[in-house]
Amino acid sequence: MQRHTTILLVDPETDFLEWAQHQLETPTTKVVTATNADEAWRFYSSEDPDLIITETHLSPFSGIELLVKARARNPNAMVILISAWGTTQSVIESMKLGAFDFIRKEALPFNLKPVVDAALKAQAEMRAATTFKPQLTVEEHQDSIVGKSLSMQNVFKMIGRVSLSEAPVMITGESGSGKELVARAIHHYSERSARSFVAINCAAMPEQLLESELFGHEKGSFTGAIAQRIGRFEQSNGGTLFLDEIGDMPPSVQAKILRVLQDGEFSRVGANATLQSNVRIIAATNKNLDQEVTKKNFREDLFYRLNVVRIVLPPLRQRVEDIRLLAEYFLQKVASQKHLPRLNLSEEAVRALEAHPWPGNVRELENTITRASVLATSDLLLPKDIPLGASYLNSMEASEAAAPRAAGAAATVDGAIEALLKAAQADPNVQLLPWLEREFTLYAIKATKGNQVRAAKLLGITRATLRKRLDRFNISADVSIKEEPPRAKEPAY
Ligand SMILES: Nc1ncnc2c1ncn2[C@@H]1O[C@H](COP(=O)(O)OP(=O)(O)OP(=O)(O)O)[C@@H](O)[C@H]1O
Ligand SMILES: [Mg+2]
Repeated sequence: MQRHTTILLVDPETDFLEWAQHQLETPTTKVVTATNADEAWRFYSSEDPDLIITETHLSPFSGIELLVKARARNPNAMVILISAWGTTQSVIESMKLGAFDFIRKEALPFNLKPVVDAALKAQAEMRAATTFKPQLTVEEHQDSIVGKSLSMQNVFKMIGRVSLSEAPVMITGESGSGKELVARAIHHYSERSARSFVAINCAAMPEQLLESELFGHEKGSFTGAIAQRIGRFEQSNGGTLFLDEIGDMPPSVQAKILRVLQDGEFSRVGANATLQSNVRIIAATNKNLDQEVTKKNFREDLFYRLNVVRIVLPPLRQRVEDIRLLAEYFLQKVASQKHLPRLNLSEEAVRALEAHPWPGNVRELENTITRASVLATSDLLLPKDIPLGASYLNSMEASEAAAPRAAGAAATVDGAIEALLKAAQADPNVQLLPWLEREFTLYAIKATKGNQVRAAKLLGITRATLRKRLDRFNISADVSIKEEPPRAKEPAY
């Protein structure tokens, strides 16, 4: 006789329970519902259902605690959490505590059935005991990672999963997309969190210096080595070492990192003694490392060692639904840091932010919001208060990934057009001609240092037309705005 499957469904809202029960019940699947955590726990302890699907916000204790209790009782307990909120922290915690999945309520109509099927299948296959440590205390996270887009929810899940392991992690994404923040979060949620997190930028120094920075050196091992030095590997012993911009690591250093990963060993520069390493490595790059391997700039063997787990941070323009949330988070952050009242965003301002391509990603958004808060003249931010153009130009300097930079680097007009087309194709939101018009307008303003007469001439339009364009694209003509005091002077027109 076929075994019946029992699912326990927990949510305070009876409407939701009814809907989900209807979705999931089949002749062989029984769905039992509960509206609070006590009731759910009683049922769980006596009936041992195959799967729990629970809202995180429950009383008298949370869905996450229900997950912990269930998994403490049976390490193979299958739990799917659902939530209308799905904060970063709750998603990471849940995955770390062994939840099978975390689904935001708005995604349920599409995801419920497939996730439940996958969970039941996995449960049938997985009878071997899993080791995990229940961790009830959920501390305040200092630097939150904000995001409700599906792609960021997946990043949070990955953070939760990899924080349990010791495997190296590779984080890729454009400049300013949050790679370091994710690396810190992995450390924070890992068993190593009480030890140090040490970050080193591999692009920032010459080969020999980088080598001694990482591994240390003995006195006199090279000219200028006037004293013994302890390297970052020793400093971060027991903790996490974040190798930023690993795509720029010189070959000699790559070889030494490979040795650490293979044998867990390294030596100080100029020393014979071998030291043991107990460091978890997280690497990040905004280069396309697969391509660097093909071009033989990066060792293939090291690439495979590092690439055990890959977390890809999508550019901000591909997660437009996060922009409002991030902007509000940054407004809150500036307000509390600078002890200012919190400003609000007008709907028009949100739309302007959402339409911006953010080549400098989240960092550019953060800078933009910070600057707007400082310059604001009222407590409601309108598009005119948000200097998108200027901030865009500033962050362009920092952003290697930005398309027009690639175009600038191309030696021919054809090359430039090709680079622009490629950049535009990579972004589903780009409409090529309006986008180009905006890019060229920005460039002209920048090239002429904000001189509108010259910029208009360069673009081949009248000054009046230029002004309309600046307005339409929400570009601030005052490209020199940087750290000016509140109440910036009006632009010259
Ligand atoms: N999802 C996010 N939520 C909140 N803040 C974020 C988020 N992503 C990035 N930030 C903030 O944006 C800034 C840039 O992030 P971070 O330094 O992690 O980017 P990065 O990818 O390492 O950039 P780069 O390649 O230029 O080094 C930081 O101030 C970080 O706190
Ligand atoms: Mg970084």
